[in-house]
Amino acid sequence: MREPRLREIDRRAFLRRLRPVLEVYAAAMRPPADQLPGRHTIMDRHASYPGFRALVAERRGPLPGLPPAVRGFAYGFHGERGQWWHDVVRGALVQVGGEEHAAGWLDDPFEVAELHVHPDAQGQGLGRALLTGLCAGRTERTVVLSTLHRADDTPARRLYRSVGMVDLLTDFEFPGGGPRYAVMGGRLPLAPYPAASINS
Ligand SMILES: CC(C)(COP(=O)(O)OP(=O)(O)OC[C@H]1O[C@@H](n2cnc3c(N)ncnc32)[C@H](O)[C@@H]1OP(=O)(O)O)[C@@H](O)C(=O)NCCC(=O)NCCS
Repeated sequence: MREPRLREIDRRAFLRRLRPVLEVYAAAMRPPADQLPGRHTIMDRHASYPGFRALVAERRGPLPGLPPAVRGFAYGFHGERGQWWHDVVRGALVQVGGEEHAAGWLDDPFEVAELHVHPDAQGQGLGRALLTGLCAGRTERTVVLSTLHRADDTPARRLYRSVGMVDLLTDFEFPGGGPRYAVMGGRLPLAPYPAASINS
């Protein structure tokens, strides 16, 4: 069995892999199929944001010459005003905690937009390696992201808490409807694992 290898890829290499990346996204998140073209557009746009960084977990192709198989990926960028997610979350944080609270989390953030591992490859440490690799060496003050909100815990939220991230918003509905999200944040560098869980 060939082990997936973690690689940092630049914007162009990321855009070249959008199809296999979206396949991993679809397998991990199981969104309605009609949402996938929109997700493609969003990822394409994100790749142009400042400080974009992407990691993929890839397994070599089964035969020489065949492309590697993407088993997981993660990417993020420097968040700033004018970006849709950033502006929505900043507004919500101002509402719950005031300007200073929002600024403390969002004045210099690394925003992790996507982190997914194909279901066949989950539970083997790839998600943690992708997250810690993505955040390693980032110069921003904080890391922030949104993840599906569930009444019970999710693997993603456990992972984020294990590196010191806390809930900033829960049961949050982004404009336009859809499922509820939790917005989580942590200080950079990430807490070494295992870290004391702050809000469990
Ligand atoms: C969340 C996700 C990226 C984790 O990737 P993974 O490779 O399966 O995770 P790892 O094997 O690296 O495990 C990391 C941590 O995640 C949590 N975790 C992983 N699988 C879990 C499970 N089945 N139940 C509970 N916690 C779990 C644990 O905290 C684990 O740490 P531990 O092994 O020290 O207990 C992956 O499960 C996934 O893609 N899920 C579907 C899509 C998704 O929710 N993406 C996140 C969007 S924000």
